[in-house]
Amino acid sequence: MVTPPARSETPRKVTTLRLMEMKQAGEKISALTAYDFLTARMLDQAGIDVILVGDSAAMVFAGNDTTIPMTMEEMLYHVRVVTRAVKRALVIADMPFGSYHEGADAALRNAIRLLKESQAEAIKLEGGRSVCPIIERVVNAGIPVCGHIGLQPQSILTYGTYKVRGTEGDEADQILADAHALEAAGAFALVVEKVPRDLMVRISAELSIPTIGIGAGAACDGQILVTPDLLGMNTKFHPRFVRKYAQLAEVMDGAFRAYRDDVKAGRFPLESESY
Ligand code: KIV
Repeated sequence: MVTPPARSETPRKVTTLRLMEMKQAGEKISALTAYDFLTARMLDQAGIDVILVGDSAAMVFAGNDTTIPMTMEEMLYHVRVVTRAVKRALVIADMPFGSYHEGADAALRNAIRLLKESQAEAIKLEGGRSVCPIIERVVNAGIPVCGHIGLQPQSILTYGTYKVRGTEGDEADQILADAHALEAAGAFALVVEKVPRDLMVRISAELSIPTIGIGAGAACDGQILVTPDLLGMNTKFHPRFVRKYAQLAEVMDGAFRAYRDDVKAGRFPLESESY
């Protein structure tokens, strides 16, 4: 009997529909951020399901104190280099602060740019019930929208703090109501940032769309972290919700110092490293 040649397995492209299937099957969604080609390619090859080109780039890539300065042009650039690298993961582009706050027309125009000029496959925007008309408009144009509730970093000037949300007054009920409203408006998934575990249990159980948590406990349908945080690249940032899977700051510092010492001492380059 002749054995048929093994077919090379093409990994199944992650789509918004696939994320929904994963929620229904109880399969957790892995998500991380990327802003550059090499990192995006490594995340994709490692089987990360969702790559978010987050406006956290304004902080961890560009060195700002908040995400507010990020522009559409900067986001378009980051999304373009990330989508160039990714074959399997779903690539979501963050809508920068100001790109959807002037109303549904401006939001739709900017969302279209992210798809047409940078090949994003979905967009994410922050906000609760107040952004539902924007979400409806963008979704009606055929653009998948991921919501973002709980701590919304673009509102840091209003909050004045990055502390956990939903712990005081009726804020937990408001966040739950926002979650339901975003689902009804057509969001395909929700990022939920820095809320108590108990609240997250309710949101994930009551919603049929997937929830992707950051600092929101284990009840989410998926988890996301900012990649430079997970890699231990920022020696000045140690929040409880970040697990550092590597200590890259130490590794990089060691490499830079060894290179400097080798150059100073004439040990680099060797003959074998020359032409
Ligand atoms: O911008 C970002 O990286 C994000 C994540 C924190 C979810 O929105």
